[in-house]
Amino acid sequence: MQAIDVVEEFRGLTWEGPFAPDTIARAGDALEAGKVLFFPDLAFRLRPEEAGFLDDKVSDHSRKNVSFDPLTGQIGATTLAGVEEKKLAAMLDRFGRQARSLLVGLIPAYDIGLERARTSFRPVEIAGRPTSPRHDDRRLHVDAFPSRPMRGKRILRVFSNIAPGDTLRHWEVGEPFADFAKKFLPRLRHPLPGAAWFMERIGLTKGRRSPYDFLMLGLHDQGKLDHTYQREAPRVKLAFPPGSTWIVYTDQVLHAAMSGRFALEQTFHLPNDRLLHPERSPLRVLERLAGRELV
Ligand code: SIN
Ligand code: FE
Repeated sequence: MQAIDVVEEFRGLTWEGPFAPDTIARAGDALEAGKVLFFPDLAFRLRPEEAGFLDDKVSDHSRKNVSFDPLTGQIGATTLAGVEEKKLAAMLDRFGRQARSLLVGLIPAYDIGLERARTSFRPVEIAGRPTSPRHDDRRLHVDAFPSRPMRGKRILRVFSNIAPGDTLRHWEVGEPFADFAKKFLPRLRHPLPGAAWFMERIGLTKGRRSPYDFLMLGLHDQGKLDHTYQREAPRVKLAFPPGSTWIVYTDQVLHAAMSGRFALEQTFHLPNDRLLHPERSPLRVLERLAGRELV
């Protein structure tokens, strides 16, 4: 496996479309095929009054990331307060709006159906950050979150490295989703009857987990906890420099974030039937492997 198999590169673009037809065709096909769209010269520009945010004291270290909810305007896990907190929220909101504009410019068909979820600021150095194996994003994984059932909706993320100086964000990208899923699916246990209902009832999940969610969480956890797989699985090393941006379906692309600090990230959700190629999605891949409907 080489970088050309997992990365599709775009140069000379801005955050706003319209983009050329061949750019649009290339972006949609590559993204849904499980590639990382990489924009080496597309920088998110900080305003002079935002330069002070490049300091890990902005994080209160209660969680991995400072997060911004665009629906409520609330910001979480930061030490900032008052005017400074509002300024950081405005910066994250601006990033989220630019990220949406880029995505919709590249894949106009996503305009209907694309839901903007949280924006995050990731000021803390990844390397050496203490975590449990299950929470360790330096292990290859696909994204799946215990409290947030997706019921087949996609998780699409836009990242920018905004580090000062030359601190790269190092990632590893693993094998295609179907190959990974084939290895781990036979090992996953079925949830107890009533488990999804119960977890929703006691507020452990926002909405009810579908069989798809149980499988995705199982893949996330069993993949991370398998030391042999983590040591030996095929992977490609990527380095995202400051001033670059990348877009990836993190529920499909096996990824590990190895080192780096000061990234911005915007999450989007997209219903499976809004995809250009729904048959390539993790939901459809798992349904074919399991031989049944999962949502
Ligand atoms: C992850 O989604 O595993 C982390 C990505 C990053 O922070 O670069
Ligand atoms: Fe992840």
